[in-house]
Amino acid sequence: MQVITTVADFRRARAACDGLGFVPTMGYLHQGHLSLIRQARAECSTVAVSIFVNPTQFGPREDFERYPRDMDRDLALLEAEAVELVFAPSREEMYPEGFGTYVVQPAADEVLEGAARPGHFRGVATVVCKLLNIVQPTRAYFGQKDAQQTVVVRQMVRDLNIPTEIVVLPTVREHDGLAMSSRNTYLTPEERRAAPAIYRGLQAAEQRYLAGERNAEALRQAVIAVLDAEPLLRPEYVSVADPITLRELERVGERGALVSLAARLGSVRLIDNVMLGAQPS
Ligand code: PAF
Repeated sequence: MQVITTVADFRRARAACDGLGFVPTMGYLHQGHLSLIRQARAECSTVAVSIFVNPTQFGPREDFERYPRDMDRDLALLEAEAVELVFAPSREEMYPEGFGTYVVQPAADEVLEGAARPGHFRGVATVVCKLLNIVQPTRAYFGQKDAQQTVVVRQMVRDLNIPTEIVVLPTVREHDGLAMSSRNTYLTPEERRAAPAIYRGLQAAEQRYLAGERNAEALRQAVIAVLDAEPLLRPEYVSVADPITLRELERVGERGALVSLAARLGSVRLIDNVMLGAQPS
């Protein structure tokens, strides 16, 4: 496994590989990341993983400084998955002095995580665009947990003619349904016990949908009823949206719906979602 920290060295190593599968990460790897890496391994002859906690996607009052980091543990996990290339650049390598070009999707900032976290998707789209340019993968793998991120990345790749196929894989969950996330590590034992209510809420909406409910507000209320029963949880938003435009729905139609939420548990902000009905291509 080659661990590479500069763009120039990565380009040289990459030139020797074809059929490259790429998993971009911010490190502190968990089973969700490993499921993406294993899928890349199964589909591509070479696998590359990036580890970079991207400062531009964190707001000024967010957790950039305390975001969990453990490079040695991450590298051991990647070695065990037989990953060939690891790109672990410094902040200065990715954003050298004078850096001044960003990728923006104004529509993404109007809804869901974009509305809740101003500037977040500008940071995500910019760093993913840079990483795809550096790594030049055939396929890049993302998790469904960050549903809006997958929509933003797909649109960017389409709009900017980036020749990478975007693959989105299902959310990996703990045994009690909590979506795997590096941020779960911040939870106190009490908060961790409360956290599965997030997925139970989403499942309540799923049950109502499967029973025939198509009224979006009724589905939203099904989620809220479960969240409200857990006193430690403070929901920020619960959304029933079109899975492609991410605009709020009144009724769920043929395209199905993305039911998503953000909630706080103490100082930790968690997100999760389920897709109802047809999956977007
Ligand atoms: O999903 C993440 O971990 C990050 O948003 C990503 C895609 C690695 C960009 O920094």
